[in-house]
Amino acid sequence: MNERVIRPYASPGAEGDADVIDLAGIRVPAQMLRRLVSLAIRAPSVHNTQPWLWRIHPDGLDLHADESRRLTAADPTGRNLVISCGAALHHLRVVAHASGLLADVDRFADPDDPTLLARVRFTPAPPPRTAAADLRAVQERCTDRRRFTSWPVPHGRLNLLAQAVERDGGYAVPISDVTDRFRVDLLAARAHRLQERDAAITAEVQQWTHRNAYDGLPADHLPARAPVPDKIPSRFDEGLLPDDGQEVESGDGVIVICGDDDSRASWLRAGESLSALWLTAVKDGLSVVPLSQVIEVPETREALQHQVLGDLAVALLLVRIGWQPISRGQLAPTPRRPLDDVLMA
Ligand SMILES: Cc1cc2nc3c(=O)[nH]c(=O)nc-3n(C[C@H](O)[C@H](O)[C@H](O)COP(=O)(O)O)c2cc1C
Repeated sequence: MNERVIRPYASPGAEGDADVIDLAGIRVPAQMLRRLVSLAIRAPSVHNTQPWLWRIHPDGLDLHADESRRLTAADPTGRNLVISCGAALHHLRVVAHASGLLADVDRFADPDDPTLLARVRFTPAPPPRTAAADLRAVQERCTDRRRFTSWPVPHGRLNLLAQAVERDGGYAVPISDVTDRFRVDLLAARAHRLQERDAAITAEVQQWTHRNAYDGLPADHLPARAPVPDKIPSRFDEGLLPDDGQEVESGDGVIVICGDDDSRASWLRAGESLSALWLTAVKDGLSVVPLSQVIEVPETREALQHQVLGDLAVALLLVRIGWQPISRGQLAPTPRRPLDDVLMA
């Protein structure tokens, strides 16, 4: 029997931890598992719904979708819910590896339980050379909706982000053609207008903004109304976050995260791709803002797929990428639910 007790790479309090969990022969301090999940749930989620539940399993960790947190109006199929869980799954893989545990993921392991998205088992492995930077990126990543600077994001940078997604087993398409980029902006603006007219969707946005200290979007993370309207309007109302950025000829980049089809398996992968892309971008000093409205509205999703992707891939999420001014401070982390609400022993 393997008697080795894995020690966390970056978790000071765990040394004196008497509570050790046996995961299929690998003895892991309970405190370490808690720390891994607390970092995994730093992942982005649609409207900060955090629609995940984690369960410690005799072999490792199970990730479940929490259907009670689905956006019933904007996300009737649960696409964004599963993408959000996929992002948390990738975060878990990254922080586990950085802590000396390689995650082996069985996706949709139980056909009788559709909420079980992934069963994760661990084996001891040396952390990668990038471990410290990986952990820092997970802790620093956040959605900063203030205006980007006019500094262009070179196509080479977008290609590198798409390659990071590909290395992780996903698929992302940078939009480099000017006409395509123009089409994307028009489609995103149209999706926004269509959703604005939908009472159920606008009520849902209200429900998830300025809510409480644990989930949803706090006012101090949403920019105060900008002096000049944006080309792609924000789906959220004015907040309290000062934004003195000027409307500029956009130098930002757009990447479409794609899948082979519109299935739950592709959505989970797309979430993992979003996390792979975003953590790479953070390490490059780039800021990322997902734009899911264009995918949520069937008309604009189909137009994006047909007119921009030439029906060669299925569009699952759009992300905008740009530079925040160096002088701007880092935003405080967006709140999260208490760990004990999302992690079951
Ligand atoms: C699937 C998905 C869709 C999202 N769609 C949007 C969007 O349309 N507009 C936006 O401003 N943010 C969007 N976000 C970002 C979330 O609002 C953000 O991740 C959440 O509020 C948590 O904040 P954080 O990223 O700072 O931790 C999306 C995130 C995910 C995972």
